[in-house]
Amino acid sequence: MQSSNFSTPDRPEILYSRLGRNAREGDSVITRLMAEALSRPRMLSLAAGFTDNRVLPGDLVEEAVHALAGTGGNAHLQYGMNVGRPGLRRCVAQLLKGYPGEEALDLDEEQCLVTNGSQQALYILVQMFCDPGDIVLVESPSYFVFLELLKGLGVRAVPMPADGEGRIDLPGLEELLARLRQSGEGDRVRLMYLMGAFANPSTRCIGEEEKTGLARILEGMERPIPVIEDMAYRELYFDRPFPARSLLSLEAWRDYPVFYLGTFTKPFATGLKTGFIASRASESLRVFARIKGHQDFGSAHFNQAILQHIFERGAYESHLWEIRKHYLEKCRVLETALRENGLPEAGWTWQSPQGGLLLWARARENMDTRMGSPFHRACLEQDILYVPGDLCFAGKAPSHFVRLSFGALDRDLIPEAVRRFCEAARVAAVCGADFTG
Ligand SMILES: Cc1ncc(COP(=O)(O)O)c(C=O)c1O
Repeated sequence: MQSSNFSTPDRPEILYSRLGRNAREGDSVITRLMAEALSRPRMLSLAAGFTDNRVLPGDLVEEAVHALAGTGGNAHLQYGMNVGRPGLRRCVAQLLKGYPGEEALDLDEEQCLVTNGSQQALYILVQMFCDPGDIVLVESPSYFVFLELLKGLGVRAVPMPADGEGRIDLPGLEELLARLRQSGEGDRVRLMYLMGAFANPSTRCIGEEEKTGLARILEGMERPIPVIEDMAYRELYFDRPFPARSLLSLEAWRDYPVFYLGTFTKPFATGLKTGFIASRASESLRVFARIKGHQDFGSAHFNQAILQHIFERGAYESHLWEIRKHYLEKCRVLETALRENGLPEAGWTWQSPQGGLLLWARARENMDTRMGSPFHRACLEQDILYVPGDLCFAGKAPSHFVRLSFGALDRDLIPEAVRRFCEAARVAAVCGADFTG
């Protein structure tokens, strides 16, 4: 048998696009974290931003599948529309008007598009507004997967100045924009990315005053800078919703290109991987839909039918009440364990989360939490994973933060995970970092 020409050793390599090269050469932190978790069976992950299998709505989905599969001449199992299932788009518009203070939101289902999770919406928005080298303004800290996405597309993430609480420093932002204009880069600023409620990783929420202040700054710009308001965790509050309305409902933002992103992966069924985008910027939404058409010409239609069925039965809201209690309890178990293991005495601080699935903790400045640091290595020795906080910053990153997730890890395992985490901190102290708890 003749040997294949394809195996010639000096054959030139295949050529990748810029996107392919970035992906090949870059490192995916999530992939690395997931691979670590899978390769160590004893591993307890405080890193994964997953939800809790215990409260995923198996019964509701099972009932929906029985009710839907095979009915309507199998229509639910057929491809659906690129922009999403009309019934689900109506549910999304209703959902948005159901948030406190947003009853009068003038937005209908035509302005809501279903996506393959909100991650797809983030990707398409960056693709449609940014070329390589362009700038996206981000909060400090920000969602690290979004920062990776920007890097992959060759887009620059520029942090907006912030105060110690993460609030955007409005005069500082004005100065930053002025500096960019002066250096001829004004037109390279193509997007602003905000997380309005229970942000990843900080669980910070943005109040209406801060939102209005931002509108005033953007109003003064020569050209609009589209704004993404990512509300992935909005419904995962513990006791009460954060009272600020979304940008879509605020008068100051009325005629501005705002893109509201929501998802059903965090508050409902993660594996259905369904999210949405809502906007009054109709031309941009058309562009968005066209790119989505190129990518997938429609998100999974059956998953959308399941969600619509759940909404129409009124089961979505009741499910939310169940899981809010569950995540509140897990969050408090995590915090109690951190305290009982002496972390505050060792100089660690955190704001008690009021929603979301994450806790954002700050160590003393001389504690290095980055990947490969003595602390990180000690955690791996203890079979513990966390997200090093420096990954959540664009530009100069502090190296003494960690993101801990209480989403996926079973409630009963959280105390053991925290015990090991704090033990690792003690070990790291022996290697030079400061831990006395
Ligand atoms: C802030 C934020 N936005 C968007 C997403 C993407 O979620 P999905 O694509 O599952 O809707 C996540 C996932 O963790 C997130 O934390």
